[in-house]
Amino acid sequence: MRVLAIETSCDDTAAAVVSDAGVEASVVASQDLVHGRFGGVVPELASRQHVVQILPVIAEALERAEARMEDIDAVVATYGPGLVGSLLVGLMTAKGIAMGRGIPFLGVNHLEGHLLSALLERDVPFPFVGLVVSGGHTSLYEVHGLGQYRQLGRTRDDAAGEAFDKAAKMLGLGYPGGRRIEQQAKEGDPRAIGFPRASMKSGGFDFSFSGLKTALRQYLLETGAGGASLSDICASVQEAIVDMLVDNTIKAASSLKVRTIVSCGGVSANGRLRQRLTQQASSIGAEVVFPSPGLCTDNAAMIGFAGRWRLLRGETHPLSLNACATLPLGGAA
Ligand code: KG4
Ligand code: ZN
Repeated sequence: MRVLAIETSCDDTAAAVVSDAGVEASVVASQDLVHGRFGGVVPELASRQHVVQILPVIAEALERAEARMEDIDAVVATYGPGLVGSLLVGLMTAKGIAMGRGIPFLGVNHLEGHLLSALLERDVPFPFVGLVVSGGHTSLYEVHGLGQYRQLGRTRDDAAGEAFDKAAKMLGLGYPGGRRIEQQAKEGDPRAIGFPRASMKSGGFDFSFSGLKTALRQYLLETGAGGASLSDICASVQEAIVDMLVDNTIKAASSLKVRTIVSCGGVSANGRLRQRLTQQASSIGAEVVFPSPGLCTDNAAMIGFAGRWRLLRGETHPLSLNACATLPLGGAA
C-alpha cells in the first residue's frame, strides 16, 4: 500500500510517500524565515504559508518517489494536536485528494507520529518509555505496542523546545533557538550558573520549565552586561533543561523497569541531551534510541508510518473528521 502523508501541525509544511519499500520520499519546507523575526511561530502567518507551500511540497514528494497521484492508494494527514489553522490546511488538502480520487483517508495523531518515528529506521523492542520533546510538547509515555500508549507525565507550562526558544529570544539569538543555544553552549561551562531545576512534589513524571525562563530573565536584569559570557549562559540554560528531561525519563524507566527509551521530537536533535540521556540510561542498564535528526523535527514520514499501519489493519476516518488542537494520546497514568 502506497500512502501519501501530509503534516502541517505547526510551522513545517511536509509531505511524504511511504510504502512496503519504506520511505520513498520525504519533503519538509521550513517556515523559519517567516517566523524568525518574531522569535516564535505566529499562527496566522503559519496557516497562510502552509496554503502557499502545501501543493508544491506534495508535488515534490510525488516526483521524488517517482509516483503520480494515480499511484497513491490512501492519504493520511495529521489532525492534532497543533495549531488549528495550520492543521486545517493539511487536513483539508488530504480530504480533497481522498474525495477526488475515491481513496481511503485517515487522520493521524502528531504525537503518535513522533513516538513511532524511531521505528522507521530500526526495530525497537516493546515496551519502551517514550520522551516526546519538541517546541509544542514535552510528554513521557509508556509504549506497550503500536497503538498502546499510556501517558506518564507532561509539561505543566512551557514545552522544553519553547524554553530553548524563549531563552534564545532573551539572549538575542533568534528563532528557532534550540540549535543556536546548543551551538553557543559548545564553548561554555554548564556549571557556570545554577539555574533552578523543577521537580514535582507529587512525585509524578510531570515537567515544568517556566521557572527557568523567569530565573534567566532575572539573571539578565540583575547582571546586565557584567554577567557570565553568552557561551556560559547558553551552556547553563541547556544543562538545566537537559537535567530535567533526563532525570524524569530515567526515573520513569527505572520505576517501570523498562529497558528501552525512545527520545523523539525536535529537542532530541540536541547533542547534550543525547549524550547525557545515553550515559544515565546505561547506568540503569537501559538503551536509548534516538531517531536521526531529520526524523526528530516535524516531518511527514513519521505520519505516513503511523497512518499506514493503522490503514493496514483496516482503520479509516470519514471525511467529516475535524482538526483537534488538543488531541490527546493515550490515557493518563
Ligand atoms: O518537533 P519540532 O520540529 O516541532 C514541534 O512539534 O514543535 O521541534 C521544534 C523545536 C523547537 O523548539 C527547536 O528550538 C527545538 O525543537 N530544537 C532544538 C534543537 N533542534 C531543534 N532544541 C535543542 N537543541 C537542538 N539541537
Ligand atoms: Zn512535532
